[in-house]
Amino acid sequence: MNHRFIQIMRRATPLAGNHPSSRRAAVVVLSVASLFVLMGAARAPKEVNWSELNPAFAGAEFVRDASTCAGCHEEALAAYSHTTHARALGANGRTTTEKLECESCHGPRSKHVEDPTNVLANIAPAGRAQVCLQCHSASKNHMQWQNSAHAMANESCDSCHVVMERRSDKALLKSADETATCYGCHGEVRGAMQKSSHHPVREGKMECSSCHNPHGSTGPSLVKFATITETCTSCHQDKRGPFLWEHPPARDNCASCHSAHGSNNRSLLTTKAHMLCLQCHSYGGHINVPRYNRTSTPTQQGCVNCHVTPHGSNHPSGAKLTR
Ligand code: HEC
Ligand code: HEC
Ligand code: HEC
Ligand code: HEC
Ligand code: HEC
Ligand code: HEC
Ligand code: HEC
Ligand code: HEC
Ligand code: HEC
Ligand code: HEC
Repeated sequence: MNHRFIQIMRRATPLAGNHPSSRRAAVVVLSVASLFVLMGAARAPKEVNWSELNPAFAGAEFVRDASTCAGCHEEALAAYSHTTHARALGANGRTTTEKLECESCHGPRSKHVEDPTNVLANIAPAGRAQVCLQCHSASKNHMQWQNSAHAMANESCDSCHVVMERRSDKALLKSADETATCYGCHGEVRGAMQKSSHHPVREGKMECSSCHNPHGSTGPSLVKFATITETCTSCHQDKRGPFLWEHPPARDNCASCHSAHGSNNRSLLTTKAHMLCLQCHSYGGHINVPRYNRTSTPTQQGCVNCHVTPHGSNHPSGAKLTR
């Protein structure tokens, strides 16, 4: 195939179907569309049907007075009083649901107050999420929850959050910090982060949420943006391009050469550098072989010794990614 021809075509038809910028345009259209959905959702408060979540709520009324609960739940309340919700709900609430305070999460409790043995604790994970989403579905961060890997795996908000006491500096997380919360279930990622080349998560300079949205996303593997590459280039802007001479895999998916979490090869590479290139290129007949009388494949730094710009080049004569 004539590579130069393809290269020219690629530059000449920037809006051709499979070109990244047209994909980007599609994403913009989609996000504008979802913004309207979002605005609609923000206006209409999401009410839950309590007796559908748990039949034991049938016939119960809202008590609308936290001091009734306080009489019997002093201990729970003491811990709860340090949380964001304790400050934002009740008398400070902006909506009717927020003003309900305890009952905004615990449902109508008149029957429980009359007879405390009337316990209502078992609501299924999806129902528990519905309770929280009464107030949190309007945030664009949470819009993809229903389709997220976590919701699909029957996890719920309380898989990561504890709301009755303040255990973390931010976001009412289950453990003291975010990474500890995630490692509770994703031990294999902790292992990867120990490798010699790793993103500085264990140094405290990044968190899982620097790249992931645990509440769901439109991208693969819960990455924050629509693609892995966009997520990476949100920080590594010098790799974003467009370049005069693109290297297609760097355009398509950074993870075709890099392990996001950690690797024992330099620069988070998935394999040793020359093996990496040989997954897609053959060395047989390479110009290097006759010219330098080399018979063996270069190892280690090998290919990137000469092809120094694996991410793409803007040099007028950088078509072969050598400068
Ligand atoms: C008369 C005392 C009393 C009052 C008033 C009371 N509770 Fe309870 N509540 C209890 C007791 C006792 C239990 C424990 C039942 C058990 O663990 O077997 C309980 C359990 C609970 C539980 C955990 C189990 C469940 O049902 O989900 C929640 C949540 C709860 N109460 C919320 C409330 C709220 C909210 C109010 C105020 C509207 C309230 N309670 C008022 C005595 C009371
Ligand atoms: C933002 C939602 C939310 C609000 C507001 C809230 N709770 Fe809870 N509460 C929960 C969840 C979720 C649980 C179960 C898991 C847990 O402990 O985090 C729970 C557990 C409880 C329990 C039983 C667990 C225990 O500690 O033994 C009691 C009792 C309780 N809440 C009382 C109250 C009272 C009283 C109020 C109001 C002052 C209140 N809650 C406000 C979400 C909430
Ligand atoms: C009645 C409305 C309401 C319900 C129900 C509710 N929240 Fe909230 N939540 C709020 C408000 C208000 C805030 C304060 C921040 C804001 O204005 O968004 C907040 C804040 C938070 C925060 C950020 C805390 C921080 O310190 O940064 C988390 C996390 C959270 N809620 C989780 C939950 C979870 C989990 C549930 C379900 C168990 C839940 N919420 C149920 C209204 C609610
Ligand atoms: C897999 C873990 C996980 C699950 C499940 C989860 N969260 Fe979170 N949540 C987090 C983390 C981590 C943060 C802090 C993220 C950050 O700082 O950007 C957070 C932050 C938040 C915040 C405050 C910041 C914001 O985005 O507004 C709210 C509110 C919240 N979560 C609500 C929820 C609700 C509601 C659910 C269930 C529908 C839920 N979370 C499920 C991990 C989780
Ligand atoms: C209570 C357990 C639990 C916690 C805590 C938890 N997760 Fe998960 N996570 C799961 C399960 C279950 C799955 C789905 C099965 C799987 O892929 O392992 C999953 C899947 C994922 C995936 C893969 C998504 C995909 O599409 O393949 C990512 C990324 C992820 N979690 C990130 C996080 C982050 C970041 C945190 C912390 C904010 C976190 N998780 C906290 C249980 C958890
Ligand atoms: C530098 C960005 C980045 C950071 C930081 C990051 N991840 Fe990821 N993570 C990714 C990417 C990209 C993928 C998808 C990898 C792929 O498809 O090859 C992924 C995949 C995952 C998966 C799916 C299984 C797997 O290993 O492929 C889980 C679970 C996960 N991450 C959890 C976490 C947790 C927990 C943290 C924090 C300790 C974390 N991630 C930090 C970018 C990141
Ligand atoms: C939130 C910002 C952020 C995001 C998103 C991000 N990185 Fe990084 N990356 C960093 C930081 C910070 C470093 C460490 C730089 C240093 O130590 O000088 C780094 C280092 C690297 C390194 C060099 C590692 C080494 O051992 O020298 C590579 C390769 C890399 N990132 C690739 C990626 C890829 C691929 C993605 C997407 C999956 C990604 N990054 C997403 C911030 C980010
Ligand atoms: C074709 C394989 C390949 C792809 C795809 C790729 N890289 Fe790299 N990357 C490399 C190699 C090889 C190195 C090491 C270069 C060296 O050692 O001179 C590297 C090094 C890096 C470094 C650290 C050194 C530096 O130049 O800053 C970062 C950061 C990085 N890549 C980010 C990315 C991002 C972001 C993407 C996606 C846009 C990406 N890479 C896609 C092969 C690739
Ligand atoms: C995931 C597959 C993949 C990997 C890994 C990969 N490449 Fe490529 N590379 C391609 C594709 C596809 C092209 C474009 C070929 C075309 O235009 O027909 C290309 C083009 C090139 C070109 C320009 C070829 C030309 O004729 O213009 C060079 C040089 C190159 N790659 C070097 C490398 C090096 C060095 C590495 C290792 C750091 C590497 N590649 C890793 C897929 C890959
Ligand atoms: C000693 C320097 C050097 C090394 C080492 C090297 N290359 Fe090259 N490579 C070149 C030069 C020079 C060209 C031709 C440039 C031109 O025609 O303008 C080239 C061309 C290429 C091309 C374009 C197609 C072709 O054959 O003309 C590919 C693909 C390529 N190299 C891949 C690799 C891979 C993969 C490795 C590692 C296994 C590697 N190169 C190692 C210097 C090198």
